[in-house]
Amino acid sequence: MSGTTVVALANQKGGVGKSTTAVNLAASLALAGHRILLIDLDPQGNATSGLGVERGSIETSIYDVLLKESSLEDAVEPTSVRNLFVVPATIDLAGAEIELVSVLSRETRLKTAIGSTGDEYDFVFIDCPPSLGLLTVNALTAADEVIIPIQCEYYALEGLSQLLRNIQLVTGSLNPELKVGGVVLTMYDGRTKLSKDVAQQVRDYFGEVAYKTVIPRSVRLSEAPSYGEPIEAFDPMSRGAIAYRHLGREFLERHTAEE
Ligand SMILES: Nc1ncnc2c1ncn2[C@@H]1O[C@H](COP(=O)(O)OP(=O)(O)OP(=O)(O)O)[C@@H](O)[C@H]1O
Ligand SMILES: [Mg+2]
Repeated sequence: MSGTTVVALANQKGGVGKSTTAVNLAASLALAGHRILLIDLDPQGNATSGLGVERGSIETSIYDVLLKESSLEDAVEPTSVRNLFVVPATIDLAGAEIELVSVLSRETRLKTAIGSTGDEYDFVFIDCPPSLGLLTVNALTAADEVIIPIQCEYYALEGLSQLLRNIQLVTGSLNPELKVGGVVLTMYDGRTKLSKDVAQQVRDYFGEVAYKTVIPRSVRLSEAPSYGEPIEAFDPMSRGAIAYRHLGREFLERHTAEE
């Protein structure tokens, strides 16, 4: 494999599993031997803390890269997982949405920063905030593909057309190559009809774009971030760990079949 593939995890709906999927998919690929960078683009910093990077120890964050001309390499932190690196986010980033409005090339700053890493990483993941503002636009502009996590809940599909319209807008102007690379069903509860119905609706709508792997609702997955560990380190035999390993394999199948 050559070059870097950039993948944004986006859905403006909050709490659907973007950060959980970003951290655990990234970790599963890193453990499979790929060099992975996860960029936290959410002021909440869930991917940052979920990978064990302490707020107090952060000297350079994604905010400094987007608004203070720091280089991306300067912001990269190692994690406890081999091959997995993170660019942390701090609460400063909450202001970036507004500060970016008046700066030059405001939509392409992240793309330029990622471009500077050359072939250092096989995959770069971007964990987006739950909004469709300039941060998400930066992610969509920098990305080769978007993965959309969808929570198997009532109203799961609400707001999706807005996201798809935004993706189309970016495709039409800033990033013609952008595609929807996948949809991941999260927090699936096989005992409920609702989960099954939502999964079916998503598959009817997205067809092959939807990943076959479904992420089950699992308490272990929600506990792991408070230990600063991906599920693979926290509880490798849990259902959540198995599911994200499967997702990693399916992701790699899609990405090697294309080459
Ligand atoms: N499969 C799962 N099973 C159980 N809990 C989960 C699962 N996936 C995520 N969670 C929990 O649900 C909450 C929301 O998940 P997560 O933070 O990944 O969503 P998000 O889309 O990144 O949220 P936000 O929009 O706020 O960034 C978190 O508390 C997380 O630990
Ligand atoms: Mg998140």
